[in-house]
Amino acid sequence: MMNDELKRQAAAMALTQVKPGMRLGLGTGSTARHFVDLLGVQVAAGFACICVPTSEATARQAAALNIPLSDLDTLDRLDITIDGADEIDPQLNLIKGAGGALLREKIVAAASDLMIVIADDSKLVDALGQFPLPIEVNRFGLGATRRAVALVCAAHDCAGALRLRQTSDGDSYVTDGGHLILDAFFGRISQPEALSTDLLNIAGVVQHGLFLKMCKKAYVAGADGVRTLSNGN
Ligand code: A5P
Repeated sequence: MMNDELKRQAAAMALTQVKPGMRLGLGTGSTARHFVDLLGVQVAAGFACICVPTSEATARQAAALNIPLSDLDTLDRLDITIDGADEIDPQLNLIKGAGGALLREKIVAAASDLMIVIADDSKLVDALGQFPLPIEVNRFGLGATRRAVALVCAAHDCAGALRLRQTSDGDSYVTDGGHLILDAFFGRISQPEALSTDLLNIAGVVQHGLFLKMCKKAYVAGADGVRTLSNGN
């Protein structure tokens, strides 16, 4: 089965958790896009909900589907955020941010009573770090911040490079918040909590793509159907 069909199946399962009147966080990426599409069909049929998007891309998609949108200035808490992930470990710790939306994704997930991750089973890993870890940094002081990030990565046994993310045109990739992204190729992250703390202690680091103890439930689709993974975080 194609990954895209699996992503859609996981998204459809998450939709079963959404009740009328809920306040929802809408994730970013190809899997979350399926969820937004499916929610749009429900909204067109009269389903009531209010949603906070995690990126400008998701906001555009949801607006085109007439999904009611709000923000975290108007709503202080959300019921559920539904989002994709780049890696999911056995404790449902995540790497996110391949789509560059990690900062808003983390803010929205943190403001939600429940974060549900939807994915195909290629995202399951024994340990985080095969996928490059996105680290969002302020443009100001990039050189100094990059050196500090490189030192932290080396102290955490980063096996590979630290690369400034670029667009296909060769320009620096700029996030919705106007920041840059450094992608760190760890190979294996053995102490994610300590790495998180060390990265956030760097003044120029805005946020990183480790989502630790934030996700309580995941719907993961594979050849045998959609599995529900959960933990008590
Ligand atoms: C967006 O910034 C990311 O965090 C995505 O949620 C993540 O990369 C998963 O994307 P896909 O669903 O496209 O694999």
